[in-house]
Amino acid sequence: MKILSALLLPATVALASSQIPLGPPSDAGASAEGDSDVHAFQVFQSDYSDAHSIRIRKQEEWLCEARSTQYTGWLDVGTKHLFFWYFESRTAPDQDPLVLWQTGGPGGSSMLGMLEELGPCLINEYGNGTVYNPYGWNQEANLLFVDQPAGVGFSYLDEGEPVPDNSFDAAKDLHLFLQLFVSKVFPKLEHRDFHITGESYGGHYEPILGAHIVSTNALQPQRTQINLKSVLVGNGYFSPLDTAFGYWETLCTTNPGVAEPVFNATRCDIMAENLPRCLELARVCYNYPDPAICGAASEVCWNGVIVHYDGESYKGGRNRFDITAPCTVDEFCYPQAAAIQTYLNQKNVKEALGVPPSIDRYNVSSDAVAMAFELSADRGISTEPQVLYLLKSGIDFLVYQGNLDLACNTAGNLKWANNMPWKGQPEFNGKSLEPWYYEGKEAGKFKEVYIKTGDTSARTRFSFLTVDGSGHMVPQDQPGPALQMLTQWLKGGKFA
Ligand SMILES: *[C@@H]1O[C@H](CO)[C@@H](O)[C@H](O)[C@H]1NC(C)=O
Ligand SMILES: *[C@@H]1O[C@H](CO)[C@@H](O)[C@H](O)[C@H]1NC(C)=O
Ligand SMILES: *[C@@H]1O[C@H](CO)[C@@H](O)[C@H](O)[C@H]1NC(C)=O
Repeated sequence: MKILSALLLPATVALASSQIPLGPPSDAGASAEGDSDVHAFQVFQSDYSDAHSIRIRKQEEWLCEARSTQYTGWLDVGTKHLFFWYFESRTAPDQDPLVLWQTGGPGGSSMLGMLEELGPCLINEYGNGTVYNPYGWNQEANLLFVDQPAGVGFSYLDEGEPVPDNSFDAAKDLHLFLQLFVSKVFPKLEHRDFHITGESYGGHYEPILGAHIVSTNALQPQRTQINLKSVLVGNGYFSPLDTAFGYWETLCTTNPGVAEPVFNATRCDIMAENLPRCLELARVCYNYPDPAICGAASEVCWNGVIVHYDGESYKGGRNRFDITAPCTVDEFCYPQAAAIQTYLNQKNVKEALGVPPSIDRYNVSSDAVAMAFELSADRGISTEPQVLYLLKSGIDFLVYQGNLDLACNTAGNLKWANNMPWKGQPEFNGKSLEPWYYEGKEAGKFKEVYIKTGDTSARTRFSFLTVDGSGHMVPQDQPGPALQMLTQWLKGGKFA
């Protein structure tokens, strides 16, 4: 483990905000759309706190070949500064919903999702520019990427501030960002449908952010309400216990869609033998989320189960994100991460974004944030309570899964979804998965229920959808089916 990485935080970011050429403070009625000057930031101040503001500037097509209007900037929330990149919908920016994307990690920059998977533009093979992505998720949605928590990607903290170490603190900052974004910067978005999406550790971030939004809306009815409609998570890390359990089925059967199981009987036997103790300790962490207990549980699961595959995941070895794919480079296995880093560290790119000179290097993942989360109990807990709260509050929820992923595998998440105790459980359990289609061909399977929950007459939708021939990063591996899934979901259409 790279324990010392926490010491690598940039030490000079304190001066950052004063070094940026700020535009004039906006008038009460102004919005970012009025600003055509690409070189200056326009600043929008929160009504609720002097310490909260958003600085934003419009960007040009050369930076990201999006074929839609785009803006970048930072939310300044006290000592924390969250970077965002916002794209208007390609179809109907004035009607389409607002969708937020969160890359996981913890510590992963949302620029990974944007430039490698579902952004309007993708990184080119040389890492010196972008290419248009016809499957960009802003096809029929206004799409927002935020580097979070502070300390990740282009987001930073003032000198001496500790990086956030849990999803709950991260959610508070992001909620303040969203309030300001939809009320002051783009007031036309204030009553628009809002959806949270992301992947991987997003299985922690997203339910926790969603639950925070719902409860804060209720607690502060006089303040800006975030019109949350749904949460959709790709290969999410909801329940570490079930993810570990799913390792066996993913590696020891042909269920993921492979001709032969990845592991032989000897290894499968060892994993099966070690699983019960892993599950038992992981359950103790759920009930008593103390970092010492959760750390012990995670170690037992690693040594008994996970290590048999993940311990061989490195350049030239196995790939945790796709059991059929090679691992071509270290860390992420995919070459795009390095290309994204190269591009976002180019001088002209940093100048266009207005990156403070004190951030000397952009990194796709923050070891400091990853380590802080590792030392808290955040990674060990399950986000089932938040998912249940969302369903009860009438927020639709979609779990989508690339079947070839191991890290947050289909088998484990299906077991978790089936076991979740709520009003919809008996009906959901009783259903079997049915095929769904993309361009006339079976693209995967799904099942879903529409349940009357809470006080409203509306029905809450809970869906589980799998994508064949896809690893962890569904929009990267199956861009067409992924975009069709998103569009159907946002419009409330059935998958079949
Ligand atoms: C990117 O690199 C390739 C290969 O070196 C080169 O052909 C291309 O012109 C470069 N593009 C830009 C925008 O610099
Ligand atoms: C099973 O797989 C492991 C790891 O690849 C290997 O070391 C072992 O020799 C295999 N055992 C048999 C019986 O094939
Ligand atoms: C930057 O990211 C790489 C993964 O691409 C990681 O190995 C490295 O430790 C990171 N550095 C810092 C300072 O976080």
